[in-house]
Amino acid sequence: MKWVTVDRLPQHEGEMVELRGWVQNYRSSGKIQFIIFRDGTGVCQAVLFVKDVPPEVFEAGKRLTQESSIIIRGTVRKDDRAPGGYEIGVKELDIVQIADEYPITKKEHGTEFLMDHRHLWVRSSRQVAILRIRNEITMAIHQFLQENGFILTESPILMGTAAEGGATLFETTYVNDEQAFLSQSGQLHVEATAMALGRVYTFGPTFRAEKSKTRRHLIEFWMVEPEAAYFTHEDNLKLQEEMVTYVVRRVLERRAAELKTIGRDTTLLEKVEPPFPRITYTEAVEMLKKLHKPGDEWEPIEWGEDFGAPHETVLTQQFDKPVFVEKFPVKIKAFYMQPDPENPEVVLGADLLAPEGYGEIIGGSERIHDPELLKRRFEEHGLDMETYGWYYDLRRFGSVPHSGFGLGVERTVAWICGLDHVRETIPFPRLLNRLHP
Ligand code: 4AD
Ligand code: MG
Repeated sequence: MKWVTVDRLPQHEGEMVELRGWVQNYRSSGKIQFIIFRDGTGVCQAVLFVKDVPPEVFEAGKRLTQESSIIIRGTVRKDDRAPGGYEIGVKELDIVQIADEYPITKKEHGTEFLMDHRHLWVRSSRQVAILRIRNEITMAIHQFLQENGFILTESPILMGTAAEGGATLFETTYVNDEQAFLSQSGQLHVEATAMALGRVYTFGPTFRAEKSKTRRHLIEFWMVEPEAAYFTHEDNLKLQEEMVTYVVRRVLERRAAELKTIGRDTTLLEKVEPPFPRITYTEAVEMLKKLHKPGDEWEPIEWGEDFGAPHETVLTQQFDKPVFVEKFPVKIKAFYMQPDPENPEVVLGADLLAPEGYGEIIGGSERIHDPELLKRRFEEHGLDMETYGWYYDLRRFGSVPHSGFGLGVERTVAWICGLDHVRETIPFPRLLNRLHP
């Protein structure tokens, strides 16, 4: 008999099939037993009717508990009232294992309890749907970049140089006792491979020892970082809006069922298309001043200060689509950003803020390509030639204008899924106070 998965049941209506999975829910009423069956691809209802199965199978069914693993064989029937829309009239039941009393039940559990049981919580329909959407987002990013000529060149995780600098570095000791860091960004290394291959990207885990306990911060997160030789700031923004649009459309097309499972209202996602609105940092500061009302939980900022999460939230609420905030002051951005030739006080860089209050999902910029200017920035930021000399070399041997950006996968998943915290966007989140399970 054919082993099929729940998502393929529509193709097997009326046939006998085999399904392998777990009991999500079980109830019995004398002559009939109902199993809500799940296998990771979806759920369906499996029905054991006393007259359809040998007595020992019916008796065996009564032992089933939540999360017991089972193999069932039976006929596929369409039934709009059944969870998942399909029902299996069970003929045979193999019990693989009877599960112990399962700690996660239908009753409401607190977040900490669920996080402590994350290894089991990932089985719930909602978490399964989110992880399937995450997979779609990752694959859509790869496909978009590959179709546009970007080559995957992985950056190292163990670093001798810091990319984003500052207090969020994870330090460790290398095999030869040298000081090493876990990667905060693969950017510096993709700048090198971009000079070899033209258009490249790295897609990997990133580590930031952030002391912030917000709904947007993880200690370990995944970032995709495209980098392209000869790309200007303008080319960079265009690439970002095309990529984000591609990803959103693909999720809407291919993961409609999962979006429905998690109850996502997709009205605004459907509006995502280029061009995205753009405002400058200076305009954003003015906008915040005008929007501020006495009693608000946030204070406006002065020119030269960085936005906090509440500022980003307020800004994104002014737009239906993702919005670029560009041309930040030099002094609040990373050392490698190219100054605006029209106003060297600001950089040719932008953050992309996702709507509905989500805030920054992308940070990117044109990079400094002039060796003299880069050397000055090294001095201002206390970066020594011994460590950063290799990065400086990129400006000595055929330097060209180039640009790139980093998109945070978890923040993008949170936005597309409409989640209120990034902890549900990754199988095993690493948060300020959480390293287990
Ligand atoms: O803005 P960031 O720090 O930019 C960089 O690291 C650049 N080197 C990228 C580049 O140009 N190649 O980080 C980029 C994105 C943010 O917009 C955000 O989506 C995500 O990474 N991010 C985080 N996501 C979750 N938790 C954190 N602690 C994050 N920090 C950054
Ligand atoms: Mg940033």
